[in-house]
Amino acid sequence: MERRAFLGLGLTGIGAVALAKKGMALEYYPNPSDKKWAVVYGTWCGTARDAGLWISEGMGGIADVFDVRENPDLAKFENIIIGSAIRSAKVTPELQAFLEKNQSAIGPKVRGLYIVCGNMRRPVTPELTKQLITDYLAPLCGAKDAAARVFLGRVTPRLLPPDIREQMKMMGEYDNLKRPDCMAFGEEILGRA
Ligand SMILES: Cc1cc2nc3c(=O)[nH]c(=O)nc-3n(C[C@H](O)[C@H](O)[C@H](O)COP(=O)(O)O)c2cc1C
Repeated sequence: MERRAFLGLGLTGIGAVALAKKGMALEYYPNPSDKKWAVVYGTWCGTARDAGLWISEGMGGIADVFDVRENPDLAKFENIIIGSAIRSAKVTPELQAFLEKNQSAIGPKVRGLYIVCGNMRRPVTPELTKQLITDYLAPLCGAKDAAARVFLGRVTPRLLPPDIREQMKMMGEYDNLKRPDCMAFGEEILGRA
């Protein structure tokens, strides 16, 4: 390859990386809104991400949806929904750290809380919602009177590292998350605001 062509390709590559970095904080605004809603989620394999997007869709797509690893600045948002997947009965370490650091700023703005979990593929009970949200996620967020929902999630073995895949073999592959349930929760949250 000619030196000039090689350099050109190199520069294009650098431009693409810069663009990718700039575009990292994805925004999902099918409809503009002055209500300033954000969903922030913690996930390992994407279930809590999908739930967050579908909750926003249930609100007419007005909430901006962030993976907590983006370390979003929530100052401009007035209404916040926090959600996470559960492993060993805990939210992701990144979400836990983010909430501990930002609790006083976030707490009064929290309007909705959700958890996605396997629950041994059994139905969600009021006791489980109390255990995972009322007694755990709500205090972690400093949230009061937020709408709360536990969704059954999914396990996709090929997304897990080999050691964890082996541990989870007994559970098999499943997908119990339902988009209509997530959308209905978004609608409910908006109705309460
Ligand atoms: C290693 C591991 C540990 C888990 N621990 C729990 C648990 O303690 N309680 C529970 O109800 N579900 C548990 N689950 C199920 C997850 O919560 C479920 O797969 C969820 O949908 C994962 O969400 P994510 O795709 O957003 O990471 C566990 C799953 C894995 C892979």
